[in-house]
Amino acid sequence: MHAPPYKIKVVEPISLPSPERRREALTEAGWNTFLLRSDDVFVDLLTDSGTSAVSQEQRAAMELGDESYAGSRSFFRLEQAMRDVYGYRHLIPTHQGRGAEHLLARVLVQPGQLVPSNLYFTTSRAHVELAGGVWQDVSVAEAADPRSTFPFKGNIDLVALERVLHEAGPENIAFVRQEACLNMAGGQPFSLDNLQGVRALTREYGVPFFLDATRMSENAVFIKDREPLPGCDFRELIQELSALADGALFSSKKDHFVPIGGFLALDDDELAERLREELVVYEGFAHYGGMAGHDMEALAQGIREAADEATVRHVIAQAAYLGHRLTERGVPIVVPVGAHAVFLDAKRILPHVPQHEFPAQSLAAALYLAGGVRSMERGIVSGQHGDEQYDGLELVRLTLPRRVYTQEHLDYVADVVASVCHDAAEIPGLAFTYEPEHLRFFLGRFEPVAAYPELGAGTPRRGTVTAR
Ligand code: F0G
Repeated sequence: MHAPPYKIKVVEPISLPSPERRREALTEAGWNTFLLRSDDVFVDLLTDSGTSAVSQEQRAAMELGDESYAGSRSFFRLEQAMRDVYGYRHLIPTHQGRGAEHLLARVLVQPGQLVPSNLYFTTSRAHVELAGGVWQDVSVAEAADPRSTFPFKGNIDLVALERVLHEAGPENIAFVRQEACLNMAGGQPFSLDNLQGVRALTREYGVPFFLDATRMSENAVFIKDREPLPGCDFRELIQELSALADGALFSSKKDHFVPIGGFLALDDDELAERLREELVVYEGFAHYGGMAGHDMEALAQGIREAADEATVRHVIAQAAYLGHRLTERGVPIVVPVGAHAVFLDAKRILPHVPQHEFPAQSLAAALYLAGGVRSMERGIVSGQHGDEQYDGLELVRLTLPRRVYTQEHLDYVADVVASVCHDAAEIPGLAFTYEPEHLRFFLGRFEPVAAYPELGAGTPRRGTVTAR
């Protein structure tokens, strides 16, 4: 494991609630880890979104926040940082990633138009659909196979994309989207070669191409390690990746180490103007969008830190370490381990729980009961839309906030997961008691379909589990 390129100066106390309290808290939360209070959580691996530690440089920069409504100095510093690292001309600041998704969908999507993409992200897809668009998956088949060791599961299937562009015709395509370190497949990167292929096709057909560049720094490290590029400089590679798309959308709550913020970045002057018109209606004035001046200062510094290779390598190394600890205990995980998280394969851990009883949701509940570890369901609860058939991935995401947890925390998590796997046969599925219409994983409530075992009453057991 790489030693962290930082030391810890400020700490936040955490503690493990008793098994009785954990059971009570989970029941109050409707067996949904999103609805737990953070005081009831010991190690919080729900998300890497807005949960990273800021640096001393970011804190210092926040003191310089210019809170002017218009013409804020902080905006221009942010714009400069974005230009230096990603090279786009225009920056449209939003409160977070989904603010950017909303604006982009409003401007680019006409009812009935398609948005071809590698798999999907929940909010990205929701905004396209709310604008009347139709999401079209063009990911490579390996993306949906947790056991495939293909190094670039974030790739787009170029044959499938060309077919969609050809059959639908460019006028029926709103834009093509490619996500870096594809979240729903396990944080899996795309290759430079594939990105160039998508660029060539979108040019040929004359359709806009946008990156979801939320986790592009990690994607750049994976490209450096897995695709032979002699003498490749990290910062130049990030510029090169950016230049292959017409624009990029960022949730800055991940790679940029800020608790809030996001933006759209692009070159096209006319499109930027149209986006700004929407920005002032839905987010805020063009020089702050959805952020305060001090947020923009922290973000400007965070963008520069996200272009620091040693910093990014440490993020990936933590995920790899946790993945290694789980693999040596026989726990089935998505391979290769991706950028920001380790994904447990709930179909293999709870093979007796049918998908309509939400194995990943139940596994996430079990991890909390067993050790106060909070994780996120990434299976049918998140992935199924309306009445459509879903037989896709059934994963639990152990997401690593950047610069927050130590190797001892990761060892603890591995022990908890192994203990749950040991007791897996006794764990039942769940049923909805409340099912929201949109993005049901956030606010949905559940109950067990049968008696749920006592988990974690003792110390998490060590030892190896048998993979199924
Ligand atoms: N795009 C990707 C790839 C994301 O992972 C997220 C958020 C968004 C867009 C939306 O950004 O949350 O700032 O509005 N992902 C978080 C997660 C929530 O836990 O993976 P946001």
